[in-house]
Amino acid sequence: MALHPTLSIPNFLYGTAWKEDRSAALTELALRAGFRGIDTANQRRHYFEAGVGQGLAAAYRAGIVTRADLFLQTKFTYERGQDERLPYDPSALLSLQVEQSLASSLEHLGCEQVDSYVLHGPASNYDWTDDDAEVWEAMRRQRDERRTRLLGVSNVSLRHLEQMAAAHFEMPTFVQNRCYARLGWDRDVRVFCRERNIIYPGFSLLTANIEVLKHPLIAALAAHAAVNPAQIVFAFARAAGMLPLTGTSDAGHMKQDLASVELVLSPETVQVIQSIAE
Ligand SMILES: NC(=O)c1ccc[n+]([C@@H]2O[C@H](COP(=O)([O-])OP(=O)(O)OC[C@H]3O[C@@H](n4cnc5c(N)ncnc54)[C@H](OP(=O)(O)O)[C@@H]3O)[C@@H](O)[C@H]2O)c1
Repeated sequence: MALHPTLSIPNFLYGTAWKEDRSAALTELALRAGFRGIDTANQRRHYFEAGVGQGLAAAYRAGIVTRADLFLQTKFTYERGQDERLPYDPSALLSLQVEQSLASSLEHLGCEQVDSYVLHGPASNYDWTDDDAEVWEAMRRQRDERRTRLLGVSNVSLRHLEQMAAAHFEMPTFVQNRCYARLGWDRDVRVFCRERNIIYPGFSLLTANIEVLKHPLIAALAAHAAVNPAQIVFAFARAAGMLPLTGTSDAGHMKQDLASVELVLSPETVQVIQSIAE
């Protein structure tokens, strides 16, 4: 199940957003189905991280997995991305907010270290700002103190990444973005990542690309391989070098999504899907 030869990263991540009081049961179900990578965030507005932790605990108790089998990823979210249920003191310095948020995540998830800690989104949609620099430095410190193994950023543009690189910031291990087919499946960011060995976890691969799922070519490919269009999209994402996330709440879809790992698409097919929605 390893995506990366040395970093022990699974080749599929199970996303826990918008699961609310089903977070625990669905996390456990995903682990039973075979997922070993879990994506969450300490952002109560969209995620119930404590529920994810309950699901992990249930899976440990049932002997399905141990902590060592898992890749756990969570995120730091600025106040503007949160509702009133904050995991930190909003009047504290940003660096302290990072510390408080990650401490709360570790408590929610019942562990001493996560595998990946992600900046949920930069402070500005346009530039990599001083606030981001402070948060990133605080995240690096948390990594050095072993509360996370790896670091990532999310919802970033090529401009953000180029500014990080130009200012000689340590580059992230992960760039997690919403992946729109109509934007060449985030081509510019993915090229930047490929050139620097940054892993690109793509999310909303299905929900952001309904037109692709309905496209006659995808339907034909799915019929030919006796799979469903969602599986073709996940197989494409992997063939194009992404680490896909799925947000399914359905046991049958969990199995289908995981089975897409076995689907091999020819380079020509990957090329055609690459340009399908442009
Ligand atoms: N970093 C960020 O800012 C950010 C933002 C958004 C999301 N995310 C992460 O990405 C995860 C996934 O996002 P998403 O929910 O937008 O992902 P998604 O996987 O594109 O969408 C999930 C939808 O696809 C359906 N689906 C999944 N597998 C299917 C299959 N085999 N056949 C038919 N339908 C299928 C699901 O329906 P069923 O439930 O019926 O299967 C659900 O409606 C989130 O949970 C979260 O962890 C991160």
